[in-house]
Amino acid sequence: MSELSVEHLLGIKYLKPNDIDVIFKTADHFKEVINRPIKKVPSLRDITIANLFFENSTRTKLSFELAEKRLSADVINFSAGQSSVKKGETLIDTVNNILSMKVDIVVMRHGNVGAGVFLSKHVNAKIINAGDGTHEHPTQALLDSYSIREKLGSVKGKKIVIVGDILHSRVALSNIFALQLQGAKVKVCGPTTLIPKYITNLGVEVETNLKKALEWCDVANVLRVQHERMDIKYFPSTREYTQLFGINKEILDNLGKKIVIMHPGPINRGVEITSDVADSDQSIILNQVENGVAVRMAVIYLLAQQIKR
Ligand code: CP
Repeated sequence: MSELSVEHLLGIKYLKPNDIDVIFKTADHFKEVINRPIKKVPSLRDITIANLFFENSTRTKLSFELAEKRLSADVINFSAGQSSVKKGETLIDTVNNILSMKVDIVVMRHGNVGAGVFLSKHVNAKIINAGDGTHEHPTQALLDSYSIREKLGSVKGKKIVIVGDILHSRVALSNIFALQLQGAKVKVCGPTTLIPKYITNLGVEVETNLKKALEWCDVANVLRVQHERMDIKYFPSTREYTQLFGINKEILDNLGKKIVIMHPGPINRGVEITSDVADSDQSIILNQVENGVAVRMAVIYLLAQQIKR
């Protein structure tokens, strides 16, 4: 099967293993394209895409916009901060006004869990979830798995530990779904206050000792503490968090093996990861960003093929 089984990309939990294969094979092609002197293909000349960002973003927003432009789509960008949302306009009204300008695909980041699913039921466009609250960030998980596959040859059978603030992370949940779909083993590591109670129901093991977690894994995906989503104190101090869960060169050098270090960004250098680790040859953080463009090109291209003209 060379087509997606879904009509929108709302979350990894809606995908089948074949969808990931199809996305990665298509991304392989686009990765070759974006490394050519002319980095553009005319595939989506007749498609218009709106990028709607109701929450801040650097990587995801720029990566989607570049992916769309590399596919020759027409692109419009919307940031809630400078929009009529500030005057009280609802999500549906905002999106329907944008869609009346003949938009085919909406890429949306929103602070509310399920915002993409809600939109997909009310508007006539393909919806791509670019992050919905603490729920899912499917293209981040796809580019993360794609980067592991590129570095280690495959994801199947690999041991991945996700370290940090699991409770508030959409990256963690989407990664868990994506990695398990591909046959990887997943653990999470962090303060118990930042690990959701339901996590073991997903077949994920919890390890609260960072050294043991790193000794077990092939890959550590390190997450930022999301202070902006916290309304109470989850640990005594940032200093203590860094002492117990921060990844530094000394910890890595004492493992006796070389693990792969990932981070979705933005990084809080010196908190969850030191600069000498983030910038080391074990880190594939910038490869993740590079691969994000090819993976997003693949997702957009595959969904656009379903649009009847
Ligand atoms: N990884 C990620 O989603 O980064 P941004 O918030 O900058 O888009």
